[in-house]
Amino acid sequence: MQIIRKLSPLRIALRELRQSRSNLGLIPTMGALHAGHMHLVETAMKQCDAVIASIFVNPTQFGVGEDLDAYPRQESADAALLEAAGVDLLWVPTVDQVYPDGFATNISVSGVSAGLCGGSRPGHFDGVATVVAKLFNQIRPDAAFFGEKDYQQLAVIRRMARDLDFSHDIIGVPTVRDADGLALSSRNAYLTPEQRAQAVALPATMGDAAEAIVKDGDIEVILRDAKVKLLSSGFHNVDYFELRNAETLENMAIFDQPARLLAAAHIGSTRLIDNIAVT
Ligand code: PAJ
Repeated sequence: MQIIRKLSPLRIALRELRQSRSNLGLIPTMGALHAGHMHLVETAMKQCDAVIASIFVNPTQFGVGEDLDAYPRQESADAALLEAAGVDLLWVPTVDQVYPDGFATNISVSGVSAGLCGGSRPGHFDGVATVVAKLFNQIRPDAAFFGEKDYQQLAVIRRMARDLDFSHDIIGVPTVRDADGLALSSRNAYLTPEQRAQAVALPATMGDAAEAIVKDGDIEVILRDAKVKLLSSGFHNVDYFELRNAETLENMAIFDQPARLLAAAHIGSTRLIDNIAVT
């Protein structure tokens, strides 16, 4: 596996790769890889004949006071995992390769970015959309793979790709969970053993709420009770716990179309997010 940090060797490597492979898959990540990321890699390996992963802890998607400096960085362990999985090329750009001096462009996707994480993390999805557009242009993949774990992010990227004429496939991959149901996340590493045990309340409460919604319960009451449940289970703040249209992410007061429950809550200093289908 080649590890490349600068654009000019990247262009040469991509040109060489394209001579023998016709279907390049891209998996953008911020590193600290776990089985969730590796499931994206395995999915890409099955669908593509060359796989490129990127690791870039994108500063512009972190807000003031968020965990940019503390974000776990473990490039050599990540590279070993990707190499063992059969990845062809690892793109680890330095900051200047993504944001050259004087960088002045921002991609802002309205609609799907509103509310949820867009509400609690202002500017976050501008940072995500801009860096993902950059990665798409740098690599020019035939398919790019993203986890449903970050459901709103996936919706923002799909919208951005349609709006800006990125014609490659955007593939959404189901969330990988620990045995007790907690979605895998690089941020789970911040949890103490006690917090890790409490964190299971997030997927458990979401599962119960989804079941109650399908049984035609009162949505407002179910969502309010779910927040109370989280707050009594070790979470000290709930950013949101909402039912949205699974496609458009618009608010849903009545459950009459495929829907998604989405939540974000804080346990200690760690913010966890999750979402599940309500069908
Ligand atoms: P990161 O959090 O490293 O996630 C990289 C990819 O892995 C994302 O598409 C995310 O949804 C997926 N992923 C994370 N946990 C997962 C899980 N438990 N199951 C399935 N997939 C999972 O998301 C980002 O990085 C960044 O915002 C990025 C898109 C790279 C832009 O900077």
